[in-house]
Amino acid sequence: MKESGRGQACANIALTKYWGKRPGTANAPATPSISLTLDPLRTETTVQMIDTADDQVVLNGVEATGRPKERIVWFLDIWRDKGLISGSVFVSSFNSFPTAAGLASSASGFAALTMALADLAQADLSRRELSRLARLGSGSAARSIFGGIAAMPLGDNPAARCVLEAEATPWTMVIAVVDAPEKTVGSTEGMERSRTASPYYRAWTALAKKDYATVLHGVMHRDFTRVGETMEANMYAMHGCMLATRPSLPYWSPGTLEVLQEAKVQRSKGLEAYATVDAGAHVALLCRHDDADAVADMLSLLMDRERVMICRPAGHAEIPA
Ligand code: PMV
Repeated sequence: MKESGRGQACANIALTKYWGKRPGTANAPATPSISLTLDPLRTETTVQMIDTADDQVVLNGVEATGRPKERIVWFLDIWRDKGLISGSVFVSSFNSFPTAAGLASSASGFAALTMALADLAQADLSRRELSRLARLGSGSAARSIFGGIAAMPLGDNPAARCVLEAEATPWTMVIAVVDAPEKTVGSTEGMERSRTASPYYRAWTALAKKDYATVLHGVMHRDFTRVGETMEANMYAMHGCMLATRPSLPYWSPGTLEVLQEAKVQRSKGLEAYATVDAGAHVALLCRHDDADAVADMLSLLMDRERVMICRPAGHAEIPA
């Protein structure tokens, strides 16, 4: 074990969503998922051994307390229980994008932390083992361990795998950061509420398996239209399940609907971009690389240009040199 370690990872946005956990498992998903890992949505994390009784966590320069800290301490406990690290740890993490707003910060956050802890532990862990460990922190983080398009299958203790390397991925995501309050229900609580109180939960999990197979096939054949149409329909199904939860789980804001509607109008005029929304209000539009500027221009008519991010496929999580 070293004195300190570093890791970095990019966020990912799911093409078919993970929404639901299998009860009685170690954070195993109830739906398989596929994602695109995105540059420049990057998290850089440093970990250091410290001589204090408790762990210390600093997120974007501010000392973390409450739930965000508890989640990280709980994750460090897993590494300590497995004998991979020992003693108290100081964690410092920086995001290059807004946190807790549905922009997948937990994906890049736990993937970067996993890499930093692997560096600290000097453990010889395969990428699949790293993906399994990252999944325990956040399901979507398992996918960020891999670059490009990654798939996360079902299983008792699944790891993600790379389906298409970043360099071979011909698609871009353009993200519209819409005006929205900070969300109040995180994904873990939201998933549990949907599982126990959404009348559409079973239908959602069944549909999610079909959409996963369709998108996987579409990616292998670079069938953009099929991937885009299925991705968008899958997003609406997930939000339908969330909205039907009692009490309801609405993650959208008026700006979300504005972007969704405009994307549809533009598509009818020939600009082929498809929308997806995570458990938050921001919208990600999937398009072919060459259409990214046109999609960004379209979004700039609805919001300030600095709220529009062109995100290219990113490589895998790593321990920086
Ligand atoms: O990894 P979590 O626990 O933050 O859950 C991610 C959930 C969604 O972003 C809504 C979907 C997904 O597959 O990323």
